Amino acid sequence: MGHNDTARSSNYLGIDVHKALLDRANGWAAARGLSGNVSYVQANVVVSAAAILGSYPGRRVRLVSIQYPDPQQRRRRHVVGRQLVAALAEVLPPGCQVYLNSDFEDTATYMRNCFECFGSQHFEIDAAAHAPGATFPCSAMLQPVRPDLVGRPRAARANAATSRPESGSVSGSESEGGSVSDGSGSGSEEAEIVDEEEVDMLQWRGRWREAGWLLRNPVGAPTEREVYVELATKQQVYRVMLVRR
Ligand SMILES: C[S@@+](CC[C@H](N)C(=O)[O-])C[C@H]1O[C@@H](n2cnc3c(N)ncnc32)[C@H](O)[C@@H]1O
Repeated sequence: MGHNDTARSSNYLGIDVHKALLDRANGWAAARGLSGNVSYVQANVVVSAAAILGSYPGRRVRLVSIQYPDPQQRRRRHVVGRQLVAALAEVLPPGCQVYLNSDFEDTATYMRNCFECFGSQHFEIDAAAHAPGATFPCSAMLQPVRPDLVGRPRAARANAATSRPESGSVSGSESEGGSVSDGSGSGSEEAEIVDEEEVDMLQWRGRWREAGWLLRNPVGAPTEREVYVELATKQQVYRVMLVRR
């Protein structure tokens, strides 16, 4: 993205928990002479978003992108949830865009639903980005990722949530660093935690789904995952642009 900004009019900050990815990305930025404007730092975005974004001079953050988070099937806790929505609402200035995407419709739906459910007083669909002709419709029915949990009484869900997931049923993306925790657990030994709120959030029916998914990447540069998903394997990507009110 920084490479396309020939006037060097913006700064770009990437955040990830996986250090090897960050070292590689910083190497690419340095090799292109972009280190002054492009940087990648190691942080748990859920914990650190408010501190990092809130400390940017003049609070002039224009765009936050949450791109290809680990999909529903692989997450113990989701990057996007009540906590991150509240943190972004606190620090982002009016007009700042929030771009969400995933190659899994359930994951993209989950993120969008979290922003709508927990943050619709602060965020809305970016109507300019979601102009007629720029979108395709959301699926009428989403295949639940954990059908064993949906529609069951809360107590039963809680019991199921503490058991380990069945193996071998996952298709699609694998986080590049292998097993990734959000920093609040102990990695592969951590028991699976399926939050009741998360289960409900996938089924939640809000209004923002009517805006559909963006047909094209609106931010001008693909991530590494996007190069693989969209350009190499021609899979569908589900994108939504929000804006801070
Ligand atoms: C599927 S990869 C996508 C990487 C990159 N965004 C892309 O589109 O190519 C998901 C990434 O999310 C990172 N991640 C997971 N939880 C995170 C968290 N709490 N804070 C920051 N990064 C996180 C993982 O380390 C992993 O690199």
